[in-house]
Amino acid sequence: MKILVTGGAGYIASHTNLELLNAGYDVVIVDNLSNSSMESVKRVEKLTGRKIAFYEVDILDKESLRQIFEKEKIDSVIHFAGLKAVGESCLKPLNYFRNNLSGTIVLLEVMQEFAVKSLVFSSSATVYGDPAKVPVTEDMPLSVTNPYGRTKLMIEDILQDLYRSDATWNIAILRYFNPIGAHESGEIGEDPSGIPNNLVPYVAKVAIGELEKINVNGDDYDTPDGTGIRDYIHVVDLALGHIKAIEKLTDHPGLVIYNLGTGIGYSVFDIIHNYEKACNKKLPYTVVARRPGDIAVSYADASKAYQELGWKAERGIDKMCEDSYRWQSKYPKGYSK
Ligand code: NAD
Ligand code: WQD
Repeated sequence: MKILVTGGAGYIASHTNLELLNAGYDVVIVDNLSNSSMESVKRVEKLTGRKIAFYEVDILDKESLRQIFEKEKIDSVIHFAGLKAVGESCLKPLNYFRNNLSGTIVLLEVMQEFAVKSLVFSSSATVYGDPAKVPVTEDMPLSVTNPYGRTKLMIEDILQDLYRSDATWNIAILRYFNPIGAHESGEIGEDPSGIPNNLVPYVAKVAIGELEKINVNGDDYDTPDGTGIRDYIHVVDLALGHIKAIEKLTDHPGLVIYNLGTGIGYSVFDIIHNYEKACNKKLPYTVVARRPGDIAVSYADASKAYQELGWKAERGIDKMCEDSYRWQSKYPKGYSK
């Protein structure tokens, strides 16, 4: 079975490709390399001993996408391609709407044209906004606070409308919580450009001495230690969730939505302390102001994915931090030489 992976050179996709190839799927990547490098693709090929068909193409380029569908005989699509920085999306909303929304529409049009109607979409826990209760279930009300989140919610709505118009589509919307960590080989991992926005990539750079200290964004939230609580999930567990979703689509389920999280919430201080264990050193931090738009607590009820996909996250916070640190210390500069 041949899977087209959009954004396939990126962080979550590279781990998913590895699991897809190990499970016997063929992988075709479309990526414009706007936030990734070919090196991740080469490393996945090396780790699996399998070849990947790679196309450096922007998903907005309809004619090139058509040619790929013509040539490759795709069975199913996993759609990761998108811009994902919340802060940048507030500064450049049109870039986000054009890239994420228009890109998805072009992809869906080409899929429809070639009668490929099986899609896994990377959504996000951000569509729950500030959830009224935790753990968060899939049927809770949706709302967003920034343009990035709005693109995810709008794409979810587009997919619902598409499915209502034609029930021969099979679509799995996966709402990821906070993916962290790396493959245990240390050969692939997250490689943000510039200073990381997200907590764990930032902590990783403090651990290797590239950044001086962690900025804890507020210790006055209504949580046990005052810092924000999130559901961090090992990227390999997340990747395996995509294999289960692809298997589900072959049963023709229609449109399905799943939270992919662990169901456990950790605070910023929990993360720092677990990372200290992984790297075996004290990590300096300072408490600074809250980050605008942040919420106090979010973690998943992941029982629907367990019941319907037979999927649950297996890797704990210690493994997440150890694997993150292995990748970061083995490749302090990420994929660049
Ligand atoms: P990433 O930036 O590492 O991967 C995205 C990939 O898409 C990159 O390789 C980038 O070059 C590519 N891309 C972007 N626009 C493109 C376009 N127009 N045409 C072709 N390729 C394009 O990000 P990631 O963390 O691996 O996230 C993957 C997906 O999961 C994204 O859709 C993201 O919004 C979603 N997601 C991520 C998180 C997270 O915390 N990392 C959480 C929830 C959802
Ligand atoms: C986690 C906690 C921060 C950085 C983001 C996106 C979300 C999704 C996942 C794509 C919070 C605190 C952070 C730092 C800190 N992405 N923090 N110091 O905000 O839960 O989610 O990534 O869909 O849409 O918003 O993740 O890792 O940025 O923050 O104290 O330097 O760490 O305040 O409590 P977040 P994060």
